[in-house]
Amino acid sequence: MRKKVTVVGAGNVGATAAMRLAEKELADVVLVDILEDVPAGKALDLLEAAPIEKHDSAITGVSGDYSEASGSDIVIITAGIPRKPGMSRDDLLSTNMGIMKSVVKEIALVAPESILIIVSNPLDAMCHVALEASGFPKNRILGMAGVLDSARFRAFISMELNVSVENTHAFVLGGHGDTMVPLPRYSTVAGIPITELLSPEKIDALIKRTQNGGAEIVGLLKTGSAYYAPSSAAVEMAEAILKDKKKILPCAAYLEGEYGINKLFIGVPVKLGANGAEEIIEIRLSDEEEKALRHSADAVQGLVNDLKRLKG
Ligand code: NAI
Ligand code: 2OP
Repeated sequence: MRKKVTVVGAGNVGATAAMRLAEKELADVVLVDILEDVPAGKALDLLEAAPIEKHDSAITGVSGDYSEASGSDIVIITAGIPRKPGMSRDDLLSTNMGIMKSVVKEIALVAPESILIIVSNPLDAMCHVALEASGFPKNRILGMAGVLDSARFRAFISMELNVSVENTHAFVLGGHGDTMVPLPRYSTVAGIPITELLSPEKIDALIKRTQNGGAEIVGLLKTGSAYYAPSSAAVEMAEAILKDKKKILPCAAYLEGEYGINKLFIGVPVKLGANGAEEIIEIRLSDEEEKALRHSADAVQGLVNDLKRLKG
């Protein structure tokens, strides 16, 4: 039987993810949004590209109706609003918390066995909302951030060393924000740690650019945030799950003691397979790396505390 992936939020990230899923023929795709007609329009447009792109994935777009999402294997959630002028972080947190909660409750009814890939920001906090609202086990809730942040780091490494991106490998752990933790010791070119190929100053500059990667794109686009790389990252996670690849990718996962962190979603290496987050891989960190991860976990914990405060 064909796999089904529902993408909630037919905006920039969601529609591009739908396109990538269909073009890779990974699954039939359902696009859901609250906007009237827009998801149907984007789905039809994508379907009309199918004869040229040579795929037979079905793509359906619906407005606020979750029945089409019934039985989905994976649900990628990109629904949310960006921070607008005059809006506080609490306003954004509270609005997106409400959106995430309502979306996840609908999904839990029609696709109770699905695996959720959360994309909406603030990412790590939204994973907490999804865990609570769904009642799903922790292995079926994953957040997308580390794959994107690591891809940005890899792109910058390849540009700096003038080597193929395919030769690069990188790990960025921690929360999806300024405190993210790129790990140069575990970032390699053809298996060689970049610490042996680049000066500490150069590595530092690449790390800063990675940490600022989302803001750099916002600064250029002006009217929105990145979506080509984010959709690629979400689809790489979906592919690993759909194909039961046992692929180790950095994802936000719910930790219960791993890395000395308890009851918190944060980016760590995770083995992805048919059961979602099948194993959290604990790599040995230096004192400095551990301190940076702890600092990042404290920042995520702060947001989670804010969520609790906003719920009252
Ligand atoms: P966008 O504004 O283009 O799309 C968001 C869509 O969500 C809109 O079409 C909107 O109508 C829809 N929506 C709002 N409320 C909804 C609801 N209750 N049910 C269904 N749909 C609803 O935004 P974009 O660029 O696609 O980004 C989406 C989210 O992903 C944002 O929160 C953004 O910050 C986040 N993001 C996260 C990344 C990560 O690394 N985790 C990377 C890029 C974006
Ligand atoms: C990014 O990193 C906005 O979180 C998004 O591009």
